[in-house]
Amino acid sequence: MEKLGIERLEFIGAGKHGEVYKIDEKRCIKIYRKRRYLRLELAALQRGAEAEFFPKVYDWGRDYIVREYVPGIPLNEYLRTHPLTEEVAHQLADMVEIMRRLGFRRADTRLSHIIIDENGKLWLIDPVNTMKKSPPYPRKLLKGLMRRGMAEQFLEYIRKRYPDNYRQWQLHLDTLISRSNKRAATTCRLTANMEGQDRPAPRRNDCAGKEAGAFSLPGYLWSIHECRDKSEKDQLESWTKIINPKNSQEIHAKKQET
Ligand SMILES: Nc1ncnc2c1ncn2[C@@H]1O[C@H](COP(=O)(O)OP(=O)(O)O)[C@@H](O)[C@H]1O
Ligand SMILES: [Mg+2]
Repeated sequence: MEKLGIERLEFIGAGKHGEVYKIDEKRCIKIYRKRRYLRLELAALQRGAEAEFFPKVYDWGRDYIVREYVPGIPLNEYLRTHPLTEEVAHQLADMVEIMRRLGFRRADTRLSHIIIDENGKLWLIDPVNTMKKSPPYPRKLLKGLMRRGMAEQFLEYIRKRYPDNYRQWQLHLDTLISRSNKRAATTCRLTANMEGQDRPAPRRNDCAGKEAGAFSLPGYLWSIHECRDKSEKDQLESWTKIINPKNSQEIHAKKQET
């Protein structure tokens, strides 16, 4: 490989696995913290070489991979200010379907590992975890959409675009919802058992709250509501505000009905 002189390259980002520098308009280099990470990511990029949403690999060495540079915005940020379009939804579904077909152990990704470029094309830039074990459905992707209240709409696009796979995606989403509700119920039972102790209020980041937060009545709060434990119910309002301020009034109204 040509001598690059990393110190002269533009730093474009870093994560748990390494640092990325721009070489030119077409290429960037990721320097890995551990060889294990390099091996996992190289295996994923090679497996996905025929899929057009993975950056091309140009070269690699002991601790680096030179790959296609993809300018754009991470999808998690993009969806904060843009609606989920049919175009984005079908590329997401394609991503999962194609990864499945290519034999990835984890046909799934976080939204933050996807970049959307100026033409609206999606790229999976950080596939290091796609070779790891995973539940048999795209949990991270659906969780990301649920959190943003976009899961139902995503499913609607799937119904139009992939009528044959629609039922399967619907089951994926149902599985995710029922798991987050079960976890929420467990959290509820645990907190209800903490007699006489200070109850920690859930933080905005609590997974059960986040997963369920995208629905009109968040599963987490619904489970607390179902608990019929007075002291839990007393906590309800303040917790609601922490987890999902938008739904606070709705929960409050529901509480009054009982
Ligand atoms: N191919 C690429 N094109 C453009 N930017 C990239 C590319 N790969 C990584 N980056 C940038 O570098 C950051 C860190 O890279 P990433 O692969 O996510 O590292 P890690 O595996 O350590 O999380 C990304 O968040 C992104 O901003
Ligand atoms: Mg990353």
